[in-house]
Amino acid sequence: MTTDDQAIPATDAGRLWGGRFSVGPDEAAWALGVSTSFDRKLWRQDLAGSRAHAHELHRIGVLDAGELERMLAALDRCAGLFADDAFPFLPTDEDVHGAIERWLVEDLGPLGGKLRAGRSRNDQIASDLRLWCRDACDELVMLIGALQEAFVEQAEQHLGWLAPGYTHLQRGQPVLLSHHLLAYVWMLDRDAGRLRDARARLDQSVLGSGALAGQTLGLDPAAYAEHLGFAGVAPNSMDAVASRDFALEVLSACAILAVTLSRLGEEIVLWATAEFGFARVGDGFSTGSSIMPQKRNPDIAELVRGKAGRVIGDLVALLTTVKALPLTYDRDLQEDKEPVFDAVDTLRLVLPAITGTVASLTFDRDRLAAASVGGFALATDLAEELVTRGVAFRDAHEVVGEVVRLAEERGVDLDGLDPAELAAVHPALDESVAARFDVQQAIDRRDGVNGTATASVRAQLDGAREVAAANRA
Ligand code: ARG
Repeated sequence: MTTDDQAIPATDAGRLWGGRFSVGPDEAAWALGVSTSFDRKLWRQDLAGSRAHAHELHRIGVLDAGELERMLAALDRCAGLFADDAFPFLPTDEDVHGAIERWLVEDLGPLGGKLRAGRSRNDQIASDLRLWCRDACDELVMLIGALQEAFVEQAEQHLGWLAPGYTHLQRGQPVLLSHHLLAYVWMLDRDAGRLRDARARLDQSVLGSGALAGQTLGLDPAAYAEHLGFAGVAPNSMDAVASRDFALEVLSACAILAVTLSRLGEEIVLWATAEFGFARVGDGFSTGSSIMPQKRNPDIAELVRGKAGRVIGDLVALLTTVKALPLTYDRDLQEDKEPVFDAVDTLRLVLPAITGTVASLTFDRDRLAAASVGGFALATDLAEELVTRGVAFRDAHEVVGEVVRLAEERGVDLDGLDPAELAAVHPALDESVAARFDVQQAIDRRDGVNGTATASVRAQLDGAREVAAANRA
């Protein structure tokens, strides 16, 4: 049981309200509401907003030139404390905004109390999170660029190596290993594009919205945008304080990126098995077993695969929080920060680790080559050859199906059947079809711009190198 005696005092400096209450909040209520443990991460953005606000207060005459100077100096000192991880939070600080104001009053005296004019924590927190997300998008795009570069590097080094291409995890058609590796560059490029799109849409300033309806002091929303480097101003103060779709977009982009990475993690795990034996993960990205001394496990790729669950969870958590919230600000929105931080921080860990893993891969040319032939991998090529000889594909498919059945019975691959056997299946299968049983030719015939032919992949590499460099920059 909590009694009023145990409650926080009705007025204390780390809480930005209290005057209208005779007793302070109950301890359990306080414990639920306090957010400094996570929103302290926004100190940089909060102080940037405060600097912009101080300038605006000066422009409208609330702070004189001397006061502005003292205020800015105090905000700098405050930033120094945060940068040194030495900001003195108190248990009575409700959130990062309250903590900073409390500190300013301690540092500056009554001047510290002037900064709150014309703003609300509602527009402050929306501004802080937008600024944080903006930087996060930039950083993630750069990290994606580094991963793309690792793929480009590997694709370049292995140009000309064969690999089996799969559908249904059954061997389908032979490809160049580089073609498979470059597929990830384009998947990742869309991931980067989604982050860039989200960033472009969230790039609107919301300060000057006050609690919800704007403010009466003559503060200029465009001035905040200018100070904080936003591309524009959110046109509606109610929307500005109520909306978190910008955070949902960042989280969606993060979740899709995490899913891309989980597919990659899964492929690396498969390639590293004795059963596939296509690739070996470098020592620095492999782990051993505490009991089986021989083990070489792809834990990093597995963790990358596993982290997707958590990032998807972050997206679902915020979607669920925002769903059905009435306009404008509701305290539920305090729950926006942790999922956003978690998703971004997770990807900050994951991306460099998977980049190193990809760079560390050594491929087994012989095993890849052996797996890319056999298994009737050139059956489609043979059917397409029949098409060029005037056979309808529907019939060609049946004919080659029969050829495959025959070869299976004989225990040979397509090139192991003798010409007479082939001709007996269909007259168009004369001796010249043997040219279709060459893997390298099969690959180089696929010479559309998106194909696996050596020339196509070489051209693709140039494009891939460009997008990687653009994201990296
Ligand atoms: N800590 C709050 C949040 O993160 C700040 C805004 C509080 N606003 C309010 N009206 N209680 O959302």
